[in-house]
Amino acid sequence: MKKEILDILACPACLPEEAELKLEIFDASGSDVIFGELRCKACSKVFQITNGIAYLLPESVMKIGRSQYRYESGQVLSSYLWSHYADLWGDEDASDTYARWASHLPDTSGFALDCGCAVGRFSFELSLKSDFVVGFDYSRSFISTARRLLVDRTFVFPLIEEGKIVTEKRIMLPDKWESVRVEFIVADAMKPPFKHDTFSIVTTLNLVDKLPRPLDHLKEVDRVARKKGAHLLFSDPFSWSGDVCPEEHWLGGTETGRYKGFGLDNVRKILSGEDGTVTPGWNIKTEGSLWWKIRNHRNHFELIRSHFIRAEK
Ligand SMILES: C[S@@+](CC[C@H](N)C(=O)[O-])C[C@H]1O[C@@H](n2cnc3c(N)ncnc32)[C@H](O)[C@@H]1O
Repeated sequence: MKKEILDILACPACLPEEAELKLEIFDASGSDVIFGELRCKACSKVFQITNGIAYLLPESVMKIGRSQYRYESGQVLSSYLWSHYADLWGDEDASDTYARWASHLPDTSGFALDCGCAVGRFSFELSLKSDFVVGFDYSRSFISTARRLLVDRTFVFPLIEEGKIVTEKRIMLPDKWESVRVEFIVADAMKPPFKHDTFSIVTTLNLVDKLPRPLDHLKEVDRVARKKGAHLLFSDPFSWSGDVCPEEHWLGGTETGRYKGFGLDNVRKILSGEDGTVTPGWNIKTEGSLWWKIRNHRNHFELIRSHFIRAEK
């Protein structure tokens, strides 16, 4: 964990109180803490830094459903590495979706946050739009892969072709994505371990429908974004599922309840401040949709329409 992010961290277990964390270093390489501890100055809870990865999960994350564990499997890792990086090795089926999402954001100064960053592609895109990017995800497998790529700048993995047949693929990061300006940590999108009024850019792509409390995530996105001069990119296919989130907490996809109707309309209302959850609300600047592709194996792809909202404060 790069020491640069210490000042923007807050104890995830104490939220909504924003307690400071004290860093103890056991082993470091320059400004990178390889082994250490982050101890909360208020509740004394200790968060480990192991092999350069800070684990900043609140206790409540244990209540996250079984569905989250699918992101730890080798098969899903192969799918996401393809989805994020296949264009870098010139795969004929790859898309430029992440660059297209990024094209909707302006150049800024200060910190950017990529919530639910998976294996990190969009965080690298954001490094071209800000001074320093923090990508976080709940999946240890995704974050350890993203951080390996960050440190080594190359990563070899088995891409699933069919059944047990794999092809070895090598990802090499382009020079324009500088490792010194990106960090990846393990954290929970409903308790992001950061101080309020911090990020000039906050992005949450294809995440809200994967959370047991989607509304909590949107409130937290608003809390950690700068109060003035912040840019938000939200995108989602709104694939609500009872396996992930009890129906009463969905932000769309039902005929009754506070958030009946389509998720896109409800998220727009929430972000703009119309329903009183987020105050003051965001100014919605652009909306649209992008086709996002996931590859399960060489003959099986998922094509997902992800609706985006770009907003400013
Ligand atoms: C559908 S993927 C989208 C990944 C990435 N944002 C993208 O668009 O490629 C959902 C991601 O959310 C992560 N996730 C699920 N629950 C989470 C939580 N409570 N906190 C943080 N990340 C979570 C998963 O591990 C996975 O990486």
